[in-house]
Amino acid sequence: MTTELPAMPTTRTSLLDPPAEYHQLREEQPVTRVRFPNGQAGWLVTRFEEGSAVFADPRMSARRPRHDVPPDDSGTSDADHGDAGLDPTFVMMDEPDHGKYRRLLTGRFTPKSVQNTLQPYIDRIVTEHLDALAAGPKPADLIEALALPIPCLVICELLGVPYGDRDGFHHATEVMMDVSKTHAERAAGAKWLMGYITDLVAAIRRDPAATGLLADLVRTADTGESILTDSDVVSIGVLLLFAGHDTTMAMIGLSALTLLTHPEQRAQLVDDPAKVGPAVEELLRYLTIVQFGLGRVAKEDLELGGQRIAAGDLVVVAMPAANRDPRAFDAPDSPDFDRRMTRHLAFGYGVHQCLGQNIARAELKTILPQLFRRFPDLKLAVPAAEVPMDVFGTNYGVRSLPVTW
Ligand code: HEM
Repeated sequence: MTTELPAMPTTRTSLLDPPAEYHQLREEQPVTRVRFPNGQAGWLVTRFEEGSAVFADPRMSARRPRHDVPPDDSGTSDADHGDAGLDPTFVMMDEPDHGKYRRLLTGRFTPKSVQNTLQPYIDRIVTEHLDALAAGPKPADLIEALALPIPCLVICELLGVPYGDRDGFHHATEVMMDVSKTHAERAAGAKWLMGYITDLVAAIRRDPAATGLLADLVRTADTGESILTDSDVVSIGVLLLFAGHDTTMAMIGLSALTLLTHPEQRAQLVDDPAKVGPAVEELLRYLTIVQFGLGRVAKEDLELGGQRIAAGDLVVVAMPAANRDPRAFDAPDSPDFDRRMTRHLAFGYGVHQCLGQNIARAELKTILPQLFRRFPDLKLAVPAAEVPMDVFGTNYGVRSLPVTW
């Protein structure tokens, strides 16, 4: 007889907090058997130390099924395809292959490169968008005005993708990341993105003056001396395009909502430029937008948090729970900009730790203080409980954020 496993908690009862069940799991069963939304049984990890250990362990493979999407009525699931038919490229590879691809890109993502190449662009577009917000009607939607366009413009600038195509790639990304859509709908989103980047690669080949990371990758592939194939270039382009804008959009929207509802932290951010860096890091920890966590598959039998994990088992680190672990963070359920924190798991950890983290930080550090300095009277135009949240997105976020001043 099989015993029914508890489902992985996915439902939030509070605007800025992960599911309440995580409190008890973290204290009593930090590594525990659950059934994931995709129907598969596996291990859920809710503490910081054990979660970090999973990401740092070379015996854990990044080649995993998508655990956060339910199989639809047709019985079809995304389980064997990372993202509904999308070639998952290096984010789902293990060493040494993962490193070979990642190293082709890292130069563009270092703090120095972001500071020298993207920061002046970010400064300019943030000012332009704040000017437009000030000149426009009230109330305004901060997602339409800032949280969506800024990350889209930045990723377009980095990759060399036309910003005019933003509606298409944003819509396809949203569908692909939405766990309430059917497998067929998500697959259609992924197919659209792959077709879009394939066409762009062809256009780059016709234009010797094309600039941006995608053009660099095409030229590298064309030398014939690199591991990069055309299909690698497309997969990497798709990964960067969707990972690079949807995440940062969610984080900007949620951070703005947090600051609008936490006047003390908002005042600290506005008054003290030295607080901006720590504030952004704390918001990343507190909000941990990758709301259903990240999976790995054990390559061999191993022990984790006193449990025996068998080869082939799916292990999911619930980063929103791990980043609220009181063993790692004092009073973890409040945003504290004075916190002394060495690291968190919002960008993952280990070899796959987010490649774009310095870009996301640059956007957040520019937008948040300027928004609240420029609009000292900024306030929500609806009660906080009525702000429409994106509860089905792989990245938790705000659908629209009505504000006035
Ligand atoms: C606040 C914004 C962001 C968050 C919270 C975030 C979160 C993450 C997380 C948790 C991972 C680890 C995945 C894993 O271990 O399987 C990751 C990987 C990745 N992220 Fe981000 N991300 C953000 C912004 C960005 C941006 C702006 C870009 C690109 C411009 C980007 C590109 C990537 C890529 C390419 C990977 C795969 C890295 C690898 O496997 O080596 N991300 N991100």
